[in-house]
Formats: sequence, C-alpha cells, structure tokens
Amino acid sequence: MAAWLLFYQILSLSIFLCPSHSADPDPLQDFCIADLKDSPSVNGFPCKPASTVTSEDFFFDGLSREGNTTNAFGTSIKQGNVLAFPGLNTLGISMNRVDFAPGGINPPHSHPRATESGVVIKGKVLVGLVTTGNVFYSKVLTRGQMFVVPRGLVHFQQNVGEGKALIFTAFNSHFPGSVLLATNLFGSKPSIPDDVLAKAFQVENSIIDGIKSKFGA
Ligand SMILES: *[C@@H]1O[C@H](CO)[C@@H](O)[C@H](O)[C@H]1NC(C)=O
Repeated sequence: MAAWLLFYQILSLSIFLCPSHSADPDPLQDFCIADLKDSPSVNGFPCKPASTVTSEDFFFDGLSREGNTTNAFGTSIKQGNVLAFPGLNTLGISMNRVDFAPGGINPPHSHPRATESGVVIKGKVLVGLVTTGNVFYSKVLTRGQMFVVPRGLVHFQQNVGEGKALIFTAFNSHFPGSVLLATNLFGSKPSIPDDVLAKAFQVENSIIDGIKSKFGA
C-alpha cells in the first residue's frame, strides 16, 4: 500500500516538474546561427563561431517576393525555416509565405513539430482544419484576419476570392516539417503497396494506380 502511495507521489511530482513542451526546447545562449555545412546534431544545427556572425545573419529576404503559382495547386509556398534562414536555429520559430492564384489551394497537410498561426495579407481565404476526432472547422478570412492550427492537425487553405491571395504563417519551431497527405501516401519512394491503400480508401487498385501516377510514383 505504502509503495503504491510512493509511486503515485513520484508520478505526480514528475508530471509537475517535467511539463511537456509543445515547441522547440529553449536555447541556452543568445543565438546560434546555424552552420548548415555541418551535419545536424540531435536537435538543430551546430552554431557558427560567434566571431564570424554579422548583421546579415539576423535578416532574411526570402519571403519578400511573390511566388510562382503556375503549378497543379495554384499555390507557391516560400519557407523561412532554419534551412533557408540559419539565424532561426534553436530559437523555436519560423515563418512561411503562401501566394495563391485564384482558386489555388495549399493542400491538406500537417506540421508534426509545430502549432501554426497565420494572417491574411491579401484576398479571401478559406482556412480549414480537422481534429483527431474528425471534426472539421473552417472559416473564410479576409485581410488582417488571423487563424491558428494546433500542432499536428490536418489543415488546408484555399483562395476563394476573385483575385490573388497572400498569407503569412508563423510556427513555434525552427523546422516544423510538413506532411503533405496526398504526396505522403501516393508519392512516397518506395511506394506504399497498392493493396494497403486500396483497402485503406476502400477502392480498386486501379484507382490507387491512377492517383499514384499523378504524384510521380
Ligand atoms: C512559373 O512556373 C511555370 C511552370 O514551371 C513556368 O513555365 C513559368 O515560366 C514561371 N513563371 C515565371 C514568371 O517564372
């Protein structure tokens, strides 16, 4: 009996002392400009020597220009993550720029390592997300309006306005990762067996082959 009591006391103490972190771990120094030429260590990249750090390391203009939306999805995604902007290394944040042609979509996807927030800069955008309980939430947003997507949940955006649309998104990870559902399932290398996908989606193998062919598998 006493042993169980002790067990529960230790358990509740450990839960209290070790809250789960929902974002990247806190850095223990002011900055750590990533040295991308070195291989990633367990959590992030090694730091450039502080003596070689310049102002340029803290600025990034990769999100300043409109992207090319001439593609199957009618969307361009420019990523401002640690790979593009090494100054973000260990800081637990990053941003994307998403340009949409009329009707363009940022297809259903999830970020395994980050919660996302976003703001519409131009146009009219349908933002949707689905919970782990398969409940769909959505809203059409216009300029200045903001959204949030809890970490890991499947979500998408679609330009439902007449003209172009533009959003900026922000993440609580320097490298949120993106699981693009369609590509993940139908364009993986090597391919997931047709039988598995046919059963999962309750369709014939030929339909699976048809979808796979569109994702280069
Ligand atoms: C946009 O991408 C398309 C398809 O790859 C290409 O044909 C076109 O030249 C690009 N436009 C610009 C302005 O770069």
